[in-house]
Amino acid sequence: MLKARIIATGSYLPEKVLSNADLEKIVDTSDEWIVTRTGMKERRIAGDNESNSDMGACAGKNALEKSSLKPEDIDFIIVSTITPDFPFPSTACLIQKKLGLENAAAVDIQATCSGYLYALDMAKAFVESGRYKIILVVASEKLSSIVDYQERTTCVLFGDGAGACIVSAKGKGLFVESIALGADGNLDGLIYMPAGGSNEPASVKTVEERKHFIKMNGKEVFKNAVRRMEKASKDCLEECGLSEKDVEWFIAHQANDRIIEAVGKRFSHLSKKQIYKTIHKYGNTSASSVAIALDELLSEEKIEGEGRILLTAFGSGLVWGAAILKPIEE
Ligand code: ACO
Repeated sequence: MLKARIIATGSYLPEKVLSNADLEKIVDTSDEWIVTRTGMKERRIAGDNESNSDMGACAGKNALEKSSLKPEDIDFIIVSTITPDFPFPSTACLIQKKLGLENAAAVDIQATCSGYLYALDMAKAFVESGRYKIILVVASEKLSSIVDYQERTTCVLFGDGAGACIVSAKGKGLFVESIALGADGNLDGLIYMPAGGSNEPASVKTVEERKHFIKMNGKEVFKNAVRRMEKASKDCLEECGLSEKDVEWFIAHQANDRIIEAVGKRFSHLSKKQIYKTIHKYGNTSASSVAIALDELLSEEKIEGEGRILLTAFGSGLVWGAAILKPIEE
């Protein structure tokens, strides 16, 4: 039986830093409020001429460089994003061009902040069925393009960045042991962007009404995020016959430190150190957040033995998911 595993990861964060002190100059907020309510100190913002596909390509290149693969070895690229360069062509096609993935089919998917886990599940299915052999998964977001910097309740939360991984059935890496995904379209109104789609195309009116920015019911999102990530994580563990004691590292979507802590508390065996975070330096990078955190964790810690990495995410849709990764040899 083929076993899909992550054989390399990569990430890219733009150089420009937007600190809480910078935000204090833009909207009526304070470093104290932001740190206490979210845990965020700064976030990265794409440069003026830096596109989503530029960032995604850098993350993909970073993953390729850490593998022994050549660009032509990749036979599929899946890009998850809510901030594509264009409605079409896909950001996957733009990254395919930038990286010279000449033998790769390319597609974008959209599952908001759970996009990396949705893409990983597809890559797992493709690899384990034998349909494709080596898949590049990229999660890339330029959220600064859809954040309203006149709206203090949302503009402090988001940042830009990209993460990537290569999924194959061969090689040393992290076996994607299980993934649990879910959705509830009934709660579509909790986080959304009102215009710019075919339902309400861009017009002078939609721009004047600031309808091309993220709108959010923070409190309801908060409650749902905690509940859904806990359930997805526990479902995922149960599916593999595992318990929380088998978890060595826990990476939750980096939306708010209080959300991460609240989910972490529901896993009583996890120590503070095992809950890996990047939120203080990158904020919420939507689909990219778990991908970036995983890449940074792997660059800092030696992952081996039986200890699992548990990933979980939650986002607009609503969509959520969890995945279990286990070290695997050739
Ligand atoms: N600076 C100062 N004050 C602020 C700010 C700010 N940046 N933002 C809001 N406030 C004020 C509010 O106006 C309110 O004032 P009032 O009491 O006078 O009305 C007060 O602070 C409290 O506001 P709340 O909304 O009750 O604050 P809360 O503790 O709920 O924190 C937050 C808000 C951080 C947004 C929280 O609800 C949260 O993190 N929710 C989840 C957000 C999230 O995860 N979103 C992304 C999902 S991912 C995706 O799909 C894109």
